[in-house]
Amino acid sequence: KRVLSIVGARPQFIKAFPVSRALDGEHQETVVHTGQHYDAMLSDVFFEELDIPEPAYNLGVGSGSHADQTGRMMIELDSVMAAESPDVVIVYGDTNSTLAGALVAAKRSASLVHVEAGLRSGNRAMPEEHNRIATDHLADVLIAPTERAVETLRAEGVGGEVHETGDVMYDALLYVRNRASELSTLRSDLGIDSTEYVLATIHRAGNTNDRDRLAGIVEGLASVDIPVVVPIHPRTEQALHEYGLFETANEQLTIIEPVGYLDFVHLLDGAALVATDSGGVQREAFYLDTPCVTMRDETEWVQTIDCGWNTLVGADRSRISRALARIDTPATKPQLYGNGQAAPRVAEVIADA
Ligand code: UD1
Ligand code: UDP
Repeated sequence: KRVLSIVGARPQFIKAFPVSRALDGEHQETVVHTGQHYDAMLSDVFFEELDIPEPAYNLGVGSGSHADQTGRMMIELDSVMAAESPDVVIVYGDTNSTLAGALVAAKRSASLVHVEAGLRSGNRAMPEEHNRIATDHLADVLIAPTERAVETLRAEGVGGEVHETGDVMYDALLYVRNRASELSTLRSDLGIDSTEYVLATIHRAGNTNDRDRLAGIVEGLASVDIPVVVPIHPRTEQALHEYGLFETANEQLTIIEPVGYLDFVHLLDGAALVATDSGGVQREAFYLDTPCVTMRDETEWVQTIDCGWNTLVGADRSRISRALARIDTPATKPQLYGNGQAAPRVAEVIADA
């Protein structure tokens, strides 16, 4: 099949990596990068580290309002699809690049495959929630990581065919885990020689667009007496400056540039705990047996909460502080998101699509 894979934001490069590997040899894949993420450490680094095919197109769309960004992506993607006439279009996750790709594929009657279908936070104020719902209802083939996601899709009455495969991010992690511990020198570069540190990431619109929430997060993180390493998303760095919080945050936390995937996996693997508002990091923590504290009011990855490996704390200083002070590592861990062989299943499903 002629497959057009649409990516644009950091987590999508990582999700596309195992799928591209599985498609290789079976299908003819063309990768389109929308340009939603463009800083070298949010984009190029992943193409250098992981064997994802070099994008045949980079649409260079960049940042903007949701409408502006999504609209410009749609116009550019329409030309690409006209030129490539793909049999199948793959979109990943829940970003504006996902939605733009889904809308254009649906209007052009290409078969649309949505990888990571059926996730819901229940929070309709989240931009990602609009993107997921719309994409799931446009998709012809829905690749769901869990049975729960399958049930959600059935309950919503989606029109496409639904397949449960497990999580492709688990595949990605298993591919790089050993390489990460061999190659990454970041922990020693940072002077961290034990597991006595917390890793933290923050980028969610709901946290960065609200001064009180971001201040609560910084204060909560700063309350622990071990180092807190924060590879900072540019959006969060800008927000900290805008709210006059950067200096304090920079004094109390170990703020570093965003890091590549190998360095990130190595940092996460070694951390005593991770505090995050990321979707990907919540489950990578779970795969690596690192307890997670999620600085949001709700999550799409509820089973990690149910089994005790993840704790929801919102953006409240004292809740974050209490959760960081009490590191609970449950004695057991269920297999929630498949066996790390999701991507080959995706390739099989595409062969039949
Ligand atoms: C996007 C996704 C989010 C995903 C995240 C992964 C949407 C609506 N949001 O959020 O679901 O979790 O990516 O990281 O699609 N910026 C830079 N350099 C870059 C990219 C962005 O400086 O390379 C700054 C710009 O100021 C930009 C802001 O970050 O306005 C937000 O970027 P954007 O792509 O709109 O959303 P993210 O917050 O990255
Ligand atoms: N990640 C990374 N470097 C960083 C922070 C995160 O490589 O500095 C990786 C992380 O391992 C995960 C993905 O980026 O695979 C998560 O992306 P992000 O948190 O930006 O997006 P989300 O998953 O919330 O959509």
